[in-house]
Amino acid sequence: MGIYVIGMAGASGAPYARRVLEQMLVQGHDVKGVITDAGRKVLEVEEGLVLTGNTEADTPAVLKWAQAVEAPGNLDLYHHKDVAAPIASGSFYVDGMAVVPCSGGTLGRIAHGVSNGLLERAADVCMKERRRLVLVPREMPVSLIHLRNMTAVTEAGGIILPASPGFYHNPNSIDDLIDMVAGRILATLGIDSKFMKPWLGPKSRTTDAQEGIS
Ligand SMILES: Cc1cc2nc3c(=O)[nH]c(=O)nc-3n(C[C@H](O)[C@H](O)[C@H](O)COP(=O)(O)O)c2cc1C
Repeated sequence: MGIYVIGMAGASGAPYARRVLEQMLVQGHDVKGVITDAGRKVLEVEEGLVLTGNTEADTPAVLKWAQAVEAPGNLDLYHHKDVAAPIASGSFYVDGMAVVPCSGGTLGRIAHGVSNGLLERAADVCMKERRRLVLVPREMPVSLIHLRNMTAVTEAGGIILPASPGFYHNPNSIDDLIDMVAGRILATLGIDSKFMKPWLGPKSRTTDAQEGIS
């Protein structure tokens, strides 16, 4: 099983983080979580999840929110100001990190190596250690500054995965849209999930093809 970092910054898109966290824990991975102050605010607004900032007290609430109380995986939450946490050092191995959702502010700090919080530091470590780093920004429209910051992160080896679900799978619900983005985030980290549905062509063609091989 792998060790993954999930950073939650203050952009809209907390449900994506919920599904990614759930899948990682259900699959038995070890998850290190860090949430910025603005990330906590967004969790409250979008998901009704009120966290105190005391990571020990917040852990059961986060597990319940992710519907992963009974899951085999482990969750360690760290405070954003805890720059002495294991994930602040490259000597502590992790398989990858997702910043989901990623605010424009956090994107900018990561792009410029401004590691004054644990989330940015953990991302900085991932890039310097050449480990997989996936940033999931949610903003519209984007400015030239956002675009330049995304370019800088990409040049440094990070992956920008915008929270922009497609509609070609004919989603029936908001959950379908959330899961499509979550599945892409997981797949980019090398984690298979039931959310990741490969495109097999338009429905009529898929049906024909399936009939042909059945
Ligand atoms: C409900 C809510 C939604 C927000 N949505 C976004 C967003 O989608 N994208 C973004 O870049 N910032 C968004 N913000 C603003 C950021 O939270 C703000 O810039 C904050 O300073 C980011 O801090 P952080 O990068 O430390 O998490 C939102 C704020 C709130 C309260």
